[in-house]
Amino acid sequence: ERTAAILVAAGRGLRAGAGGPKQYREIGGQTVIFRAMEAFCRHPDVFAVQPVVNPDDAAIFNEAVAGLRHQPPTNGGVTRQASVHAGLEALAAEKPDIVLIHDAARPFVTSAVISRAIDAAGRTGAAVPAIPVTDTIKQVGDTGNVEATPERARLRIAQTPQAFRFDVILDAHRRAARDGRSDFTDDAALAEWAGLTVATFEGDPANMKLTTPEDFAREEARLAAQLG
Ligand code: C5P
Repeated sequence: ERTAAILVAAGRGLRAGAGGPKQYREIGGQTVIFRAMEAFCRHPDVFAVQPVVNPDDAAIFNEAVAGLRHQPPTNGGVTRQASVHAGLEALAAEKPDIVLIHDAARPFVTSAVISRAIDAAGRTGAAVPAIPVTDTIKQVGDTGNVEATPERARLRIAQTPQAFRFDVILDAHRRAARDGRSDFTDDAALAEWAGLTVATFEGDPANMKLTTPEDFAREEARLAAQLG
């Protein structure tokens, strides 16, 4: 079975504050996107890595990932969903059996999580890395009043890489686009909509998505402490 990976990096990352798209900022002396892509490029069971970028970022992308072997970058879309779809279409000619879809904004993905993703996709066809929730989560209405408190033991935080049979997730993305859907925040939600059963496998609490300036500051401090 041949496994490819898509790295979505076409977002503007505005919640991370000033200083350009968050995936091109440095954390621990390396750009976020280099760290994320390197994990897939180095993995022995991943034969192709497809980056999806914003056309405005072509120059900084090339600089950030110099030295890594990857497919020619393809342009993303207005939403994350559209960016993933673009990556899937770009990979179609490579005919992968399995595809791993990863946020470039998650630089701490490990080889172990990638291996678990490949294994889970091979067994189930569609699987996402999940970690338990430690806070109690509230569902609120438009006014901010609590509508429901889902049972915490059944809740999980979904991470990436999310792993799928290539043909099945490409077909689901094409159907969603045809139906005018553009708002799925992850590929598992799109797969659920398409009627697929989505399994979970063990994620990694360290594999967090960098979103806010606080995320950058905290992770920078953690890396500095690790280096001693
Ligand atoms: O904005 P958010 O943190 O949810 O983005 C998750 C990932 O999706 C990021 O790596 C971001 O660059 C990517 N993305 C994209 N195209 C978009 C929006 C987000 O590739 N239009």
